[in-house]
Amino acid sequence: MDILELMRTRYTTKHYDPNRRVSDADMATLLEVLRLSPSSTNIQPWKFYVVDTPEAKEKMMPAVKDFNIERMKAPQFIIFTVPTHFSKDYFDELYAQEEADGRYKGWNSTERPDAIRQTYAGKFDNDPQGMLLYTSNQAFIALGCLTVAAAAIGVDSTILGGLEFEKLDEIFGFKAKGERSVVAMALGYRAENDSNAKRPKSRLPRERVIEFLK
Ligand SMILES: Cc1cc2nc3c(=O)[nH]c(=O)nc-3n(C[C@H](O)[C@H](O)[C@H](O)COP(=O)(O)O)c2cc1C
Repeated sequence: MDILELMRTRYTTKHYDPNRRVSDADMATLLEVLRLSPSSTNIQPWKFYVVDTPEAKEKMMPAVKDFNIERMKAPQFIIFTVPTHFSKDYFDELYAQEEADGRYKGWNSTERPDAIRQTYAGKFDNDPQGMLLYTSNQAFIALGCLTVAAAAIGVDSTILGGLEFEKLDEIFGFKAKGERSVVAMALGYRAENDSNAKRPKSRLPRERVIEFLK
């Protein structure tokens, strides 16, 4: 696979074929890409909710802004949420997982190896805006990984920022779980007449966005 060819040809799908679902195997691959995405101090401040039934999709509709209604013909969606708070239990869960995965073999300090994570994340205890920025930055890295991975396996996608996230939080009970939704992704396959498929890609020139510092 030529990565530049992939980046040049992937695009935001505007019209989906409602009758063509992403296979279970491909969905499993994409969900695993999300799970494996990198995050600051490996804090993994996210959950990925799959919407793949007509019932769940119908529930989502009141939170969809008008200009995105057409995107709802996609067969599958993933909603990204982030936590509003990190609990002691959460830090312990991360620590136990890393230990079980063998990350701390040979650690010989008396300080717990995840101390930096706890100190760093602790900065946001009384800063909800900072917490939202920190966590959603991580979630958007996973979103970027998903965007490229979907294209790599021939699945079309649309990043959905145009949703009423507070509504979504109420509808699916994210708020009650101490989470908030920050973005979503539509997945599926382009309709034959997808308006965006033939539109040329447009980006600012290299010299406008890249600078080598001396
Ligand atoms: C954070 C974010 C939110 C976006 N929200 C929407 C959206 O709500 N609806 C939509 O059709 N496209 C949405 N897009 C797609 C962008 O408009 C698109 O990526 C951009 O115009 C570049 O086009 P391309 O992806 O086809 O290269 C979003 C993209 C990003 C990164």
